[in-house]
Amino acid sequence: MGTRINGRELAETMQVEIKKEVEELAEKNIQPGLAVLLVGEDPASQVYVRNKETTAKKLGIYSQILRYEETITEKQLLEEIKRLNGDPKIHGILVQLPLPKQIDEEKVILTIDPKKDVDGFHPVNMGKLLTGDATMIPCTPYGIMKMLEAYSIDVDGKQAVVVGRSNIVGKPVACLLLEKNATVTVTHSHTQDLKAITSQADILVVAIGKGHFITKDYVKDGAVVIDVGMNRNAQGKLIGDVKFDEVEPKTSYITPVPKGVGPMTITMLMQQTVKACKIQELGL
Ligand code: GUN
Repeated sequence: MGTRINGRELAETMQVEIKKEVEELAEKNIQPGLAVLLVGEDPASQVYVRNKETTAKKLGIYSQILRYEETITEKQLLEEIKRLNGDPKIHGILVQLPLPKQIDEEKVILTIDPKKDVDGFHPVNMGKLLTGDATMIPCTPYGIMKMLEAYSIDVDGKQAVVVGRSNIVGKPVACLLLEKNATVTVTHSHTQDLKAITSQADILVVAIGKGHFITKDYVKDGAVVIDVGMNRNAQGKLIGDVKFDEVEPKTSYITPVPKGVGPMTITMLMQQTVKACKIQELGL
């Protein structure tokens, strides 16, 4: 039976440390500031943004939630980002994705000052991630690596399989696992015989956004399973990409949904806001 990786507990432990860092900065009259931009009324995004605001407040991070109508033009949104790039109280800028159709996500990301890009999505930060020289790391992949580290899960030389190739999770987590000397395979919707590949994985990271897709036949005995999925089932319940009840007995470690990866993502956002603040204010 697998050990459940308690993301919520680890997130709380890390938040105590982050709060201390924020307090130390306050002694120097510095307060980390985070701007979160939300366009439209997407219900999931509303929840994520509210959680970010609550967590920032709890840790003493100054936060601005900027809400825009669904109909905002690309030009207007880019102007807002440029204004925040120049705002000295703001050290981190996050534009909640997805964005409405009239707005080009790539242009938005390119407009964020890489130093303030706490999501780590700007090509400069993505490039640094690829060369192993990252400062701003996408929050979910970063949180996953912190969970592996906290549970002393050895990655070196292991077979790691990532299911999903998004810029937000799949690609960056593959880079980070590679950096830790895993042998990494990235699979996706065109992968043939997915099961044959995932069932070789010592470490299986699933980020496909399909509820309960990964059943026990996809998982090797003793594997470490990290479930990034956040899906709603027909009853409105939050479920992962992994069919937890039947997969858990085969694993050595597994993350539940909720209370797994989710709380870590928010925590890493806070940590990166503090890091961005220190770099901008103290040149660290
Ligand atoms: N939407 C889903 N995940 C994320 C994320 O990590 N960052 C942003 N900006 N939007 C998201």
